[in-house]
Amino acid sequence: MSDTWQECMDHCVEVTKTAGKMIRDALQKDIAIMQKSSPVDLVTETDQKVEQLIISSIKEKYPTHSFIGEESVAAGSTSVLTDNPTWIIDPIDGTTNFVHRFPFVSVSIGFTVKKEIEFGIVYSCIEDKMYTARKGKGAFCNGVPIKVSGQEDISKSLVLTEMGFKSDPEQFKTMLGNIRTILSIPVHGIRSPGSAAVNMCLVACGAADAYYHMGIHCWDMAGGAAVVTEAGGVIIDISGGPFDLMSRRLIVASSRAIAERLVKEITEFDVGRDDTEHK
Ligand code: IPD
Repeated sequence: MSDTWQECMDHCVEVTKTAGKMIRDALQKDIAIMQKSSPVDLVTETDQKVEQLIISSIKEKYPTHSFIGEESVAAGSTSVLTDNPTWIIDPIDGTTNFVHRFPFVSVSIGFTVKKEIEFGIVYSCIEDKMYTARKGKGAFCNGVPIKVSGQEDISKSLVLTEMGFKSDPEQFKTMLGNIRTILSIPVHGIRSPGSAAVNMCLVACGAADAYYHMGIHCWDMAGGAAVVTEAGGVIIDISGGPFDLMSRRLIVASSRAIAERLVKEITEFDVGRDDTEHK
């Protein structure tokens, strides 16, 4: 019997490889930077071209499928998840890294059916690491199975998060306060690689033990969520409830013990939802 979702996934890997090559080629040339919602929310022509390439290639093969793409949403498309097979695309996750040539830049694609993630692909294209995961079938990096560290002791863990400018001073204070609280546990360290999708894959392959973030989007999370889940990781909401792809927040960890400890340590702030607003 043919496996339609596997065919979609195989096609996704191929188009992601092409997208990664486009990004590497663009790094050899001048990069013109444009601003989106704020001076620290950047976009380049490459983000837009890569998203167009991915969507047109998928649309040609699967014309009835839906799309939520970072740059299409920035241009006015909606980001409401439906039951229809849906491709959730971040053409360049780590645009700030890309413009600085800081080497964690990924193409991230998650594919949902009936709002459940069926597979995820994250291609860290400068490192040339292709992370792939299909529901129930494990996670891989360049075809080799990967799994989380299994670490249960937060004081022995390396924690990832992302720090960004916040226009709301209270949110800024809370974000920095959370970092201070976690460092004071103490943990082995905190790192900010600059690509949410790569962060999830770093937890998936055991290079880090946890990742938390408030203020990202579904296109930053969808691909990596599949990878880390299939690698045996735990993914939950920052409040401790079930992970919600449209909630703009998450905790990812190598074990439930670490995830739940982070729930206790982190103070939440309101970041809205992807399906009700666009920031
Ligand atoms: C960004 C990256 C970054 C995170 C930002 C995201 P983008 O994605 O994932 O790690 O801190 O919140 O917006 O904009 O480069 O696709």
